[in-house]
Amino acid sequence: MIQNPTSEIKFSNGLNIPVELHKVRMVQKLFLKPVDERLAAIEKGGFNTFQLNTLDIFLDMLTDSGTNAMSDNQIASMLRADDAYAGSQSFYRMEQAVRDVFGKHWVLPVHQGRAAENIISQAFIKKGDAIPMNYHFTTTKAHMELNGGEVLEIYTEEALKIKSDVLFKGNIDINKLNDVIAKYGKEHVPFIRLEASTNLIGGQPFSIQNMREVKKVADKHGIIIVLDASLIGENAYFIKKREEEFKNASIADILLTMCSLSDIVYFSSRKVSSTRGGGICTNSEELFMKMRDLVVLFEGFTTYGGMSVREIEAMAIGLYETTDETVISQSPSFIEYAVNELDKSGIPVVTPAGALGCHIDAMGFLPHVPQAEYPAGALAAALYIVSGIRGMERGTISSVRDDKGNDVLADVELLRLAFPRRVFTLSQTMFVVDRVQWLFKNRELIGGLKFTEEPAVLRFFNGRLTPTSNWPEKLIAKFKADFGGSL
Ligand code: F0G
Repeated sequence: MIQNPTSEIKFSNGLNIPVELHKVRMVQKLFLKPVDERLAAIEKGGFNTFQLNTLDIFLDMLTDSGTNAMSDNQIASMLRADDAYAGSQSFYRMEQAVRDVFGKHWVLPVHQGRAAENIISQAFIKKGDAIPMNYHFTTTKAHMELNGGEVLEIYTEEALKIKSDVLFKGNIDINKLNDVIAKYGKEHVPFIRLEASTNLIGGQPFSIQNMREVKKVADKHGIIIVLDASLIGENAYFIKKREEEFKNASIADILLTMCSLSDIVYFSSRKVSSTRGGGICTNSEELFMKMRDLVVLFEGFTTYGGMSVREIEAMAIGLYETTDETVISQSPSFIEYAVNELDKSGIPVVTPAGALGCHIDAMGFLPHVPQAEYPAGALAAALYIVSGIRGMERGTISSVRDDKGNDVLADVELLRLAFPRRVFTLSQTMFVVDRVQWLFKNRELIGGLKFTEEPAVLRFFNGRLTPTSNWPEKLIAKFKADFGGSL
């Protein structure tokens, strides 16, 4: 494959901007509704961006999950899909891709990432167990707790600092890992979980050096390592850019190294391979057998796992493309551009720039909004109103209440603006930066939110909220005055 990383393309005039390394051959029309209609849409959606209809959205930066642009080869592959309940050739091609890219022989398909979390949690976690990890992901934690496990985040001191120049904020603190095992006993630690490009703390990677240290501890106690590889491509890209030992390594080799340090690798294909579905893989037949029959029970037969054969074909190609630095560099380089521009304007944004999206620190942005009034949710709603851009709250609304029903304030309160791979152009990115800058200048106009309907599980998806005052109207009045119009 021809390698053509963005960082090696230079402008003669010194401009430092990312270049799109693909051409656009299929497009989707966008809509930008006037600001009053945007307010009506977010009101209808209970001030929750998950509840918006895409017809009401201009730039959809909710997530990269299932929204990365597919390649021509992925779409072409869907035509040769082999429809069969059992033994489909599509599955065998995908299985081969997993073996080649992740270096794991035994492969189980599942319908998406959280399905893998369900299977792994049911297979390995029992009541009273503790699962140490760099940081939780929402669905991961929900499944682990459902099975009686306790999630223990053993991140390093830097992990939660918004502004930092530590390159691997996703690392595990080895002393804390030793302490957890000493406290709970190795028989109550079914596995150690490492999440590539740690999602909820701003897409921050871990290093291979850290993985090796974790593995040493794990081996000493006979504990297995489970790697959440949903964002492994970007983590591998950061290892190449930031870890001296790997600066000349290929992404393919880095992926294999990361997986070789893990016993079970699972992934959301909605992210890692720009399609749908997910998978679990391992080189241990014993571990595979502990999970296999749960796949039949919850997902479907072991050669489709709840996916369509077309998705499986596209997943196989997508996995190979994850080893291509040209593909994998796109999202991080556009994120880095946006982060740098916002940072230069004094806007509090997670640094270093990570994977998945640009993460704005809502508590720094809206210091006057108490955390109990969900600043990240309020900022997401405000940005939507003034731009039609849909981001995602990653803060207290995305957390769960404690046993006594009290809100648990999140460690960090982030507005995530996702950059799905190869979807947005540089001028669209500049529009995003501009609207966030405008909002920052007018930040005192933004107020808080409170719940009007609150689901007991994963409340951020379907919960409904309302503003604590009429701040959206005031924000709109200023918007119209400044822009002299409604768009
Ligand atoms: N693990 C990580 C690290 C994830 O980011 C996600 C999903 C999952 C597991 C679950 O996978 O959605 O296929 O069931 N993250 C999406 C996001 C939803 O927007 O960050 P899934």
